[in-house]
Amino acid sequence: MTHASASFLPPVAIDPDSGMPMYQQLSDWFRRAILDGHLRPGQRVPSTRHLAGELNISRIPVLSAYDQLLAEGYLETFTGSGTCVARAIPSGAPGGRRLRSASNGESVGAARRIARRAAQLHGPEQTWLDSLGAFRVGMPALDRFPTAIWARLVNRHARQLTVEQMSYADPAGHGPLREAIATYLGASRAVRCDASQVLITTGSQQALQICAHVLLDAGDRVWMEDPGYPGAHQAFRTAGAQMVPVPVDGDGIDVEEGMRRARGARAVYISPSHQFPLGTTMTASRRMQLLSWAERDDAWIIEDDYDSEYRFGGKPVASLQGLDTAGRVIYLGTFSKVMYPSLRVGYMVVPKDLVPAFHAGRDAIDTFSSTLFQLAMTDFIREGHFARHIRTMRALYRERRVALIQAIDRWMGGRLEVIGADAGMQLVGLLPEDVDDIAVSREAAGHGVSVRPLSPCYLGTPSRSGLILGYGGVTPAQIDEGVRRLSLCF
Ligand SMILES: Cc1ncc(COP(=O)(O)O)c(C=O)c1O
Repeated sequence: MTHASASFLPPVAIDPDSGMPMYQQLSDWFRRAILDGHLRPGQRVPSTRHLAGELNISRIPVLSAYDQLLAEGYLETFTGSGTCVARAIPSGAPGGRRLRSASNGESVGAARRIARRAAQLHGPEQTWLDSLGAFRVGMPALDRFPTAIWARLVNRHARQLTVEQMSYADPAGHGPLREAIATYLGASRAVRCDASQVLITTGSQQALQICAHVLLDAGDRVWMEDPGYPGAHQAFRTAGAQMVPVPVDGDGIDVEEGMRRARGARAVYISPSHQFPLGTTMTASRRMQLLSWAERDDAWIIEDDYDSEYRFGGKPVASLQGLDTAGRVIYLGTFSKVMYPSLRVGYMVVPKDLVPAFHAGRDAIDTFSSTLFQLAMTDFIREGHFARHIRTMRALYRERRVALIQAIDRWMGGRLEVIGADAGMQLVGLLPEDVDDIAVSREAAGHGVSVRPLSPCYLGTPSRSGLILGYGGVTPAQIDEGVRRLSLCF
């Protein structure tokens, strides 16, 4: 039988002058700590000798208190494992925190409010995220990641971490990594910046959070692409922004419609290179229209460039940031797609005059990102592994994308209309109008297939029903089998 190892005990409060016997104070304290959940079932408690030593009292009251608690069923002992908190709390025990909250109207109200808030933040239950297999959106080919190289770089730095590198660091991130990113973005995305404008973040989700907190006051209006990225909805919602859905057509976000709906909006969130989820590329004329709106109306453009490394058809598309001459664009990027999501390293490029405000915002949100991984990431880029990995993955995703389109054709004929397959690691299959995409995604999850419904990506009334299918992390054989199973779901 296993038990939690001896763990931290909250401070034991006993008062030698209270007039209450010491053993009773101790047993009362343990009961309360167990009922309030401060001591967990199975958690080891200190030996009587150790606790008496800690409290600087004789061992006798501690022995008596433990005997009492063992007799009442709050503690239990196992040979060789010492004394632990019982895994089943005695029935009829006086109410702890959990019982109190059930009978107290105010706490129940507070709990409901919190549950409602969590649901608002998180949206509907997402059973389609339970599976790691076909067609989990946003998942790169993790089995093809050069783990040996990465491990060597991480080990190299882990073994040599200096005292400085183990200490608190610059909120903007590791200088050489910021340099490497500025060079990479200049060359591959036509982003115009120097390293002082680059901030390392804990993924682009955090960058969105920082943007919301630095750029917006509660109640400020933000244009959101509709449909759009649910992660961005979460970030702006937590900041108390008022999100204004603006439709996306074949040219990207409809700027004129945005002006009609909320002319004085403070910011816009867009994914112009590969719109999430529809996959549209924003045209040059829309880009210019958006930039001149932002300049004229003193608004900010938050450009999420999350997967532009992978482009399969047409000319490479440069960033919107590179066209901005008025310093209105905040550019976000991530290593979640080109490396792996749990790395949690991303970056943002901010206009020069906003750098101090963004440093302050980044510092306030979680100080800075793990130095060890920033060091390893710097070498990964500088030594050429990054560029090589992107090249290999681009070829792989191209094949997988073709395999997915062919499988859809084979198993579903005209039932799923494919759009947005020119770039990235996902495409959208539009469903016939009368088919409920959430119901299909739930049904598919039951068959071990993860497809994300399109309709929850809308802030306004969904105008299309569809499925978002990620193909980055799926082999051609899994793709074929996944589509076959999906074809049974509607
Ligand atoms: C539109 C969009 N932006 C950003 C991200 C990446 O987020 P993060 O860097 O927080 O992992 C994703 C991931 O799926 C995405 O789809």
